[in-house]
Amino acid sequence: MATKPRVAVTRIIPDAGLDLIRDATDMRLWKDPLPPSPAELDDLLADAVGALTLLTDKIDDPLLARHPQLRVVSNFAVGFDNVDVDAATERGVAVCNTPDVLTGTTAEMAFTLMMAAARRVSEGVDYVRDGKWKTWGPTLLLGQDIVGATLGIVGFGRIGRELARMARGFNMKLLVYDTYIDPTAADEFGVTYVSLGNLLQESDFVSLHMALNDDTYQMIGADELRMMKPTSVLVNAARGPVVDTDALVSALRDGEIFAAGLDVTDPEPLPADHSLVSLPNCTVVPHIASATVVTRDRMATLAARNLLAVLNGDTPEAIVNPKVLERSQRDSGT
Ligand code: GLV
Repeated sequence: MATKPRVAVTRIIPDAGLDLIRDATDMRLWKDPLPPSPAELDDLLADAVGALTLLTDKIDDPLLARHPQLRVVSNFAVGFDNVDVDAATERGVAVCNTPDVLTGTTAEMAFTLMMAAARRVSEGVDYVRDGKWKTWGPTLLLGQDIVGATLGIVGFGRIGRELARMARGFNMKLLVYDTYIDPTAADEFGVTYVSLGNLLQESDFVSLHMALNDDTYQMIGADELRMMKPTSVLVNAARGPVVDTDALVSALRDGEIFAAGLDVTDPEPLPADHSLVSLPNCTVVPHIASATVVTRDRMATLAARNLLAVLNGDTPEAIVNPKVLERSQRDSGT
């Protein structure tokens, strides 16, 4: 019987994916609820030809150099800023991710945060829990309207587009900033492309959906926050470091913007004593935008199928650096 390939899985993921990997490979699973340390990750990856990784695992060039036998890194996420894709490509390692299956769920969380922050939901919950609710109040916890407001979407990929679709149901006016202008999108989604400055100045809600890279690191800083309306709400369901955290704390504290709704933060996890946690106009949830039962099952299945496809010499459903496969297919004459 042929020996099964050694594969490392860096956390317990839903059985829908784990069972596929367990059946087809010699799986080594990191069972701790916290991520492996860099040294523990090295141990886990010893002899592994495939790795199913999470966004908390840093897969950089030195790590790839220490594991030259690796053929595939399959990330259990649509984002892949934890992986040095250029280094992986250079070393012939396929990098896979989980797009599409989480688009609606993630856009839903951006919308949830938008509404929760605008309508002061967590402040209201605290108010009731703290026993402060004594009567109906004409000026109690006044928020901002969503219906008919202007939503600015920064980054118009799959999730940004899904959010636009949802927002149309709320009769929102839609502005978009993206470095790539899709000529068909304006009509298809009813959006208007504008500069980042115009978007920040004109929007009542600004929702961030760009990938994290050198160009987008702290793209929203003090200057950008100052351009926003004092009644506006910032939502981040992308990656924490696209916003300058200190600048955001000041903007929220000084009333430069009305509120923020954050699924992601910098740092992550956010310590409980961080200013963003104690500011009443900041609603923070722990990076759970794709966290529904069905979506996490789909992500697990897709991540497992991607991993196994590469190991079987097949084309995975989602690959970030297809060049690697083209090269290996060329080399093997297929
Ligand atoms: C989660 O943040 C993801 O990238 O899937």
